[in-house]
Amino acid sequence: MALTGRSWLLLSAAFLSTGAEISVTPEPEQPAEGDNITLVVHGLSGELLAYNWYAGPTLSLAYLVASYIVSTGDEIPGPAHTGREAVRPDGSLDIQGVLPGHSGTYILQTLNRQFQTEVGYGHLRVYEILAQPVVMANSTELVERRDTLRLICSSPSPAEVRWFFNGEALPIAIRLGLSPDGRVLTRHGIRREEAGAYQCEIWNPVSVSRSEPIDLTVYFGPERVAILQDSTTRTGCTIKVDFNTSLTLWCASRSCPEPEYVWAFNGRALKDGQDHINISSMTAAQEGTYTCIAKNPKTLLSGSASVVVKLSGESPPA
Ligand SMILES: *[C@@H]1O[C@H](CO)[C@@H](O)[C@H](O)[C@H]1NC(C)=O
Ligand SMILES: *[C@@H]1O[C@H](CO)[C@@H](O)[C@H](O)[C@H]1NC(C)=O
Ligand SMILES: *[C@@H]1O[C@H](CO)[C@@H](O)[C@H](O)[C@H]1NC(C)=O
Ligand SMILES: *[C@@H]1O[C@H](CO)[C@@H](O)[C@H](O)[C@H]1NC(C)=O
Repeated sequence: MALTGRSWLLLSAAFLSTGAEISVTPEPEQPAEGDNITLVVHGLSGELLAYNWYAGPTLSLAYLVASYIVSTGDEIPGPAHTGREAVRPDGSLDIQGVLPGHSGTYILQTLNRQFQTEVGYGHLRVYEILAQPVVMANSTELVERRDTLRLICSSPSPAEVRWFFNGEALPIAIRLGLSPDGRVLTRHGIRREEAGAYQCEIWNPVSVSRSEPIDLTVYFGPERVAILQDSTTRTGCTIKVDFNTSLTLWCASRSCPEPEYVWAFNGRALKDGQDHINISSMTAAQEGTYTCIAKNPKTLLSGSASVVVKLSGESPPA
C-alpha cells in the first residue's frame, strides 16, 4: 500500500502503542536562541516504516510537525511545522535557528512493519540571549529614615536576577528587602550607608546581562552642629578674646547636602550664608552669645550650637 503521512497518521491511531523505550534528548542540552539543534533519538529498534514528530503534549494532529517515510525519505510537514524543522533518516529532528517559542514537549511516534507504533518523549528548553535589564527607581533622592526606596529590575525575559551594590554583592541587610522573585528591592527608612550605585543582573544558562548603575543619594542631618575656633570645637564654651584682636568662628555639622548656615548674635540674626563669622577687632560691643543655625534644605531639619564670647580679664582701656 502507498503510505502517505496522512494515511498512516489515521492508521496509527488504530494500533496500540507497544510502550515507550525511546528517549529524546536535545543536542546541545541547553540551547540558546539561534542555535541549530537536534532532538536526538535513542532506543529505536526493528525496521521502521515511518516517523511522526509532534511539538506538543499529545499526539494531536494540531501538534504534528512532520511525517517522514523512511523508504523514500519523503517528509510531509504538519500544521505545527515552523519552517525550520527537518527529520533525519535516523528519526532525529533538526531545528535550525531555534527560537524560545520552540520550547516545550516533543513526541516522536514510530511505525514498524507490523503497523505497531511506539512513542518517545523529550523536552526542549530554548534560552534567550538576554537583553540588558534596566533598574527603575521610584526616586533616587531619599531622606534617611523617612523615605522608602523601591528599585525594580526591569526585563521582559524570564531569568534569574541578582543585584550589585557599588559593584559588590548586596549586603545582607539590603538583601532582606528583595521580593521572592528577586526583581523588586524595597527598603523602608533608608539609611545613609545604603546610598550608592545599584545594578541588577539577569542570567540564564546561556547568557548574562547587567544593567547600568543607578545612583542613589540619601539625605541626612544636620547632626552634631558645632562651633569651632582654630579647628577646635568650642560649642557651649566661653571664649575669652583680648581687646582689639580678631576672632573667626566656624560652624560645622554632619549633613547631606551641605546645610545653609545662619548666625545669630544675642538672638539677632546676622547676615546669612556663611559657614564662619569674623570679629575683626574685639571690643565690649562684640561680647555676647554667638549661635550658628544649620538648616538642611532637603531633610528640612535644623540644628544649632552656641558659644559665649567675652573680653579677656585684662581690663579694656576706657
Ligand atoms: C545553522 O545552520 C546553517 C545552515 O547550515 C548555517 O548557515 C548557520 O551558520 C548555522 N548556525 C549556527 C548558529 O551554527
Ligand atoms: C516608593 O515606593 C514605596 C513603595 O511603594 C512607597 O512607599 C514610597 O512612598 C515611594 N517613594 C516615593 C518617593 O515615591
Ligand atoms: C588696635 O590694633 C591696631 C593694630 O594692631 C592698632 O593700630 C590700633 O591702634 C589698636 N587700637 C586700639 C584702640 O588699641
Ligand atoms: C574672615 O577672615 C578670614 C581670614 O582672615 C577671611 O579669609 C574671610 O574672607 C573673612 N570672612 C569674612 C566674612 O569677612
